[in-house]
Amino acid sequence: MSGAYSSSMTIIHALLLLALIPLAAGAASPLSLCGSRSNYSAGSTYEANLLDLLLGTLRPNASSSPSLFAKGSLGAAPDTAWALILCRGDVSADECYGCVTSAGEDAATACNRSRDVALCYDKCYVRLADHNFFDPNGNSGVISSMSGLNITSSDVEGYDRALTGLLSETVRYAVDNSSRMFTTGEWKGRDPGFPWIYSAAQCAADLSRPQCRNCLQGLMGKWRTMFVRNMWGARLAGPSCTLRSELFPFRNNTDPIYPSYRFFAEAEPAATATTTTVTAKSGQLATKPESTVPL
Ligand SMILES: *[C@@H]1O[C@H](CO)[C@@H](O)[C@H](O)[C@H]1NC(C)=O
Ligand SMILES: *[C@@H]1O[C@H](CO)[C@@H](O)[C@H](O)[C@H]1NC(C)=O
Ligand SMILES: *[C@@H]1O[C@H](CO)[C@@H](O)[C@H](O)[C@H]1NC(C)=O
Ligand SMILES: *[C@@H]1O[C@H](CO)[C@@H](O)[C@H](O)[C@H]1NC(C)=O
Ligand SMILES: *[C@@H]1O[C@H](CO)[C@@H](O)[C@H](O)[C@H]1NC(C)=O
Ligand SMILES: *[C@@H]1O[C@H](CO)[C@@H](O)[C@H](O)[C@H]1NC(C)=O
Repeated sequence: MSGAYSSSMTIIHALLLLALIPLAAGAASPLSLCGSRSNYSAGSTYEANLLDLLLGTLRPNASSSPSLFAKGSLGAAPDTAWALILCRGDVSADECYGCVTSAGEDAATACNRSRDVALCYDKCYVRLADHNFFDPNGNSGVISSMSGLNITSSDVEGYDRALTGLLSETVRYAVDNSSRMFTTGEWKGRDPGFPWIYSAAQCAADLSRPQCRNCLQGLMGKWRTMFVRNMWGARLAGPSCTLRSELFPFRNNTDPIYPSYRFFAEAEPAATATTTTVTAKSGQLATKPESTVPL
């Protein structure tokens, strides 16, 4: 990240790695999180292992798998590389493949060849490291980003309430009702400052449902501490789960197989009710329920 929106990036080899990186509008460069480990050199065996693993094995595997997820390691010590790909649950195989290609191009430059790098694009999250960071009970390497814009409405309380409700329902549905542990949501209200809010929650395919619930609830907690409440959009993306909200429809709503929740938190203009109602999007949930794995 560079330019006016950049802020400092820190790395803490703790349970959760976090960096707060405001989104530069339209930037093609990824959000990145650079580890404090040493840097590898161009043309090194480690770099060859890393790119071979990422592009040769994991890219085709992730993009061809229904879960759009892949992880693995390659090479003998001390040059072993570990990598993980989590493409957004509603992108096509081609888009997933293309996103990982970008990660391969940015892998060296994003962090000056750091041996621990996390990259986040609109359509995928990728982490590359020289050690085994796989942990379905953790989510180390979380990239955090917040829009530099604020909502125009003065009803920050109302926005916060709507967003919190939407995110928690999106999380609940991803855990309980989605076979792929990926759900998008949308909320419709009457304040012109935030007429619609769009959300997404996703867990990596190597998590169990209880692990998915823990992971997403962890992000919900982080969300409250990381972001100002009037932000226009934000996301938390890690190797085990991701959470996002925007005021624009970023998801692929032409794909009927992914469950989506729709909330009407206020009555439609013609009606008079003022209480909050939660309504499943008709059609999709009613006619195409996804199979649910018992907890
Ligand atoms: C590796 O690159 C990063 C990013 O440019 C830099 O901050 C760090 O000092 C480098 N580390 C070493 C050991 O050179
Ligand atoms: C990038 O890493 C190399 C190798 O460790 C180091 O010599 C160089 O100073 C780093 N560059 C920057 C801009 O941090
Ligand atoms: C990639 O996919 C192939 C074919 O399905 C499988 O044999 C292999 O284990 C996978 N490797 C990884 C690292 O996912
Ligand atoms: C949206 O989903 C449909 C159905 O799976 C797919 O054909 C299409 O390529 C996807 N579009 C995008 C932009 O990912
Ligand atoms: C979601 O899953 C829960 C728990 O299995 C179930 O009670 C509920 O009916 C499901 N909702 C939908 C809309 O499928
Ligand atoms: C957005 O609101 C926050 C307070 O919630 C404030 O600190 C920040 O400066 C505002 N940003 C803009 C671009 O207005």
